[in-house]
Amino acid sequence: MPHRAPGSPAHGPARFLQGKPIRYYRPTGSAEVRQLIEGGFQAFNAGRLSEACHIYADKMLAPAGDTTIGLTVAGALTPAGLGGCVIELIERGLIDFIISTGANLYHDLHYALNFQLHRGSPFLDDVELYEQGIIRIYDVLFPSSVLLETDAYIRDFLVRSSLQGPIATSELHYRLGLDLLERNPPCAEYSVVAKAAQCGLPIYTSSPRDSSIGMNIAYHELMNGSTLMIDPNRDVNEVCAIILSGHRNGCIILGGGSPKNFYLQGQPTLWEVYGIPKGGNDYFIQITTDQVVWGGLSGATPAEAVSWGKVNPGVLSDTVVAYCDSTIAFPLFCEYAVGSPHNRRPLRKLIHRREALVADLVRQAKAAKATTDSQAQPVEIDRHR
Ligand SMILES: NC(=O)c1ccc[n+]([C@@H]2O[C@H](COP(=O)([O-])OP(=O)(O)OC[C@H]3O[C@@H](n4cnc5c(N)ncnc54)[C@H](O)[C@@H]3O)[C@@H](O)[C@H]2O)c1
Repeated sequence: MPHRAPGSPAHGPARFLQGKPIRYYRPTGSAEVRQLIEGGFQAFNAGRLSEACHIYADKMLAPAGDTTIGLTVAGALTPAGLGGCVIELIERGLIDFIISTGANLYHDLHYALNFQLHRGSPFLDDVELYEQGIIRIYDVLFPSSVLLETDAYIRDFLVRSSLQGPIATSELHYRLGLDLLERNPPCAEYSVVAKAAQCGLPIYTSSPRDSSIGMNIAYHELMNGSTLMIDPNRDVNEVCAIILSGHRNGCIILGGGSPKNFYLQGQPTLWEVYGIPKGGNDYFIQITTDQVVWGGLSGATPAEAVSWGKVNPGVLSDTVVAYCDSTIAFPLFCEYAVGSPHNRRPLRKLIHRREALVADLVRQAKAAKATTDSQAQPVEIDRHR
């Protein structure tokens, strides 16, 4: 590794990697879990999680509602093996697009490339881990060679893809997913990025430079003279266009961080910037460890989001925050949804509709502007001042 002394070991001693490999767990719709949530999760945050399951399974997934559903992902969920839950939701059409931290997408690539992450302990000597070339994400352990080889794959992909110029992150992740599928078709069963590409589901990242994917794009520019550049404006407009196209809108927010706001800013962008009175979200579910008392966006409640036009004022009963570790709550939530009557919806395949949806956004924004302009009073200029 560049920041380690030359010759230092890339592979740590096996003793650190003796824990079971972390696999992507796929929810199956367990009747026992549904029974637990129905009967046992009655109060406090168990009660909130039960509410979240009901809002999702009974309302957001009801065919009559035709709800466009965004999933936002922050926190180390793919390293912890929760990518399988996301894959299950994608495959069943239970989510329509994703906004994730770059970290979760980068770490998903280890699974796609058949590298192993291991169960470990959070109570290890990190200096020793460093000396032995072992990376730790809380209690998830893997050799630094996993990073190096994943990075090498990304750089190789960037060269082979011939991607140039400004592109949306949805395009980058789609092309990356197609490449993974071509190399190793079964990986759609254990890679979120690959499954999303297979199902035509767009994945955005609100922090394109805050991950090893972004780091390798920066390398590609400097060392290969590439003009490839992530254009965040395209992401903003595509996400707005997707939200605008929704008959109803709802979100599942895992953790907080920038993906949460990147999703929720969609409605304010529509009314505040484009002048389109779309209204706010109809459903809002958040599973997080973030607290409201610190005043940050990550812990902000759906009620606070109402004031911004992010959530429709009349639907607060269809919003809930479960203060839980999402590595525990999200698999339970997914088990419940997969076991529910509305456990499959047609895939929207929004990746192939982005251009048309953005064109519709432009059309509606121009119409809104024409209306505003026609109503505007001419400003009288006082020439004596
Ligand atoms: N190599 C890379 O590309 C890269 C880049 C950044 C981070 N990382 C690693 O990836 C991990 C994930 O980073 P990230 O940027 O996705 O987010 P993060 O870990 O910084 O978390 C962001 C948000 O999620 C919430 N959160 C975190 N864990 C949670 C949990 N278990 N349950 C509920 N809410 C939770 C936090 O409170 C915060 O709001 C980090 O721990 C880091 O080790 C890797």
